[in-house]
Amino acid sequence: MRHVKSNSFAARITGTGSAFPKNRVTNDDIVKKLQASGIETSDRWIRERTGIRERRIADIENPAEHNSSLGLAAAKKALDMAGKTEKDIDQILYATCTPDTLVPSTACWLQHKIGASQAWAMDINAACSGLIYAVATAKQFIQTGQVKTSLVIGADLLSPFTNWQDRGSCILFGDAAGALVIEREAADSKHQILSCHMLSNGNLWELFYIPAGGSSMEVTPGRYSKNLHKMRMYGKEIFKVAVRTLVDFAQQALAENKIDIRELDWFVPHQANLRIIEAVADRLKFPMEKVLINVDKYGNTSSATIPSVLDEAVRDGRIKNGQTILLDAFGAGLTYGAILLRW
Ligand code: UT7
Repeated sequence: MRHVKSNSFAARITGTGSAFPKNRVTNDDIVKKLQASGIETSDRWIRERTGIRERRIADIENPAEHNSSLGLAAAKKALDMAGKTEKDIDQILYATCTPDTLVPSTACWLQHKIGASQAWAMDINAACSGLIYAVATAKQFIQTGQVKTSLVIGADLLSPFTNWQDRGSCILFGDAAGALVIEREAADSKHQILSCHMLSNGNLWELFYIPAGGSSMEVTPGRYSKNLHKMRMYGKEIFKVAVRTLVDFAQQALAENKIDIRELDWFVPHQANLRIIEAVADRLKFPMEKVLINVDKYGNTSSATIPSVLDEAVRDGRIKNGQTILLDAFGAGLTYGAILLRW
C-alpha cells in the first residue's frame, strides 16, 4: 500500500470493462433441462415474470472461464479504457460471493494473473450489493490519499451453486464479471463519486443462503445429495424487500446530495428481475428510458450486474461526461446500498 501525506481527494471512475462466458443458455434450453427432471416451466413464464431471455453459464472445467479469469478479462478492458497498466494498480477489491477458492482470495488470484505487483488485494462479499460496497471502500482509500488507483471487480459464477431442481431460482442467474478503474481526482473535481450509502440486515439471512460449504457445515456426501451446497431462495419475500429498499436508498442518496430526481441522467439498479426494476422506477416516477437494463441478456449476475451494464452504456456512448448517475443494489445478507456520482 502506498502512503501519501494528504487527506482530501475525490475518486472518479475512469475505466469500465466486462466479460461473459461463451455458453449462451436461452429460456428454451432451461425448459428442456428441467423437463428431463419432470419439472415444468416455459419461456413465456420466465420472460413475463423476470424479463430474462437468456444468460451465460461458465464452463468451470475451462480455466479461462473461472471467476478470476473473467475478472481478468474485464479488468484488462477497464485498464485499457483508463490508459493504465497493471503496474499502476495500488489496490484490488474483488466483490464476489462465489470465489475461485476460499483461500486464497479471488483478488489474489487476479493479482497473480494480471501481475499487479504493487497492489494489495482482498475480496469483499456482500453478494449482489458487492460492487457498491467495493466502490465505497475504494473511495475511502482514495479520499484519504492511501491509494491512487484502485481496480474494483464485481464478478460471480452462481451457476455452480444453482439447484436445477428448483424452478423458482434456477431460471434467474447467470455468470459474468465487470471491472472499474477508480482513480484519485482533485477534491473539487466535477467528475467524482459523490456519496455512498450502505446498510445490511443480517436478520434476513434466510431469504437467500447456501447452507453448506463454509466452516459451519462441511459438504459431506449426505449433504451433497440433499443439495445443501446449493442456493436457497425465498423469491417472493426478496422481491418485496428489494423494491422497498431500492426506492429508499435512491431517495436517500438524492436527498442527501440535494439532487432532484429529474436531474438524474441514468439510474443503474441491480439487475435481478425486470419487474423489480419497473416497480422501483414507477415508485420513483422515473422514466424507464433512463434506466440501464441488461437483465434480459444475462440474467442476475450478482455483483457483476452494475459494472457490466455500466460498461455497455459507456462503450455505446449513452453515458457522457458530466452526467449524474445513481447505482442502487440489494443482495443476500441482506445487503443494500446506493452510490451517486458525476461521470
Ligand atoms: O439477488 C437476490 C436474488 N433473488 C431475487 O432477486 C429474487 C426476487 N424475486 C423474484 O424475482 C420473483 O419472486 C421470482 C421470479 C423468483 C418468482 O416470481 P413470482 O411472480 O414472485 O412468482 P411466485 O413465487 O409467486 O410463484 C407464482 C407461481 C407459483 O405457482 P402457484 O403456487 O401459483 O401454483 C410457482 O410455483 O409460479 C410458479 N413458478 C413457476 N412456474 C413456471 C415458480 N417458478 C416457476 C417457473 N416456471 N420457473
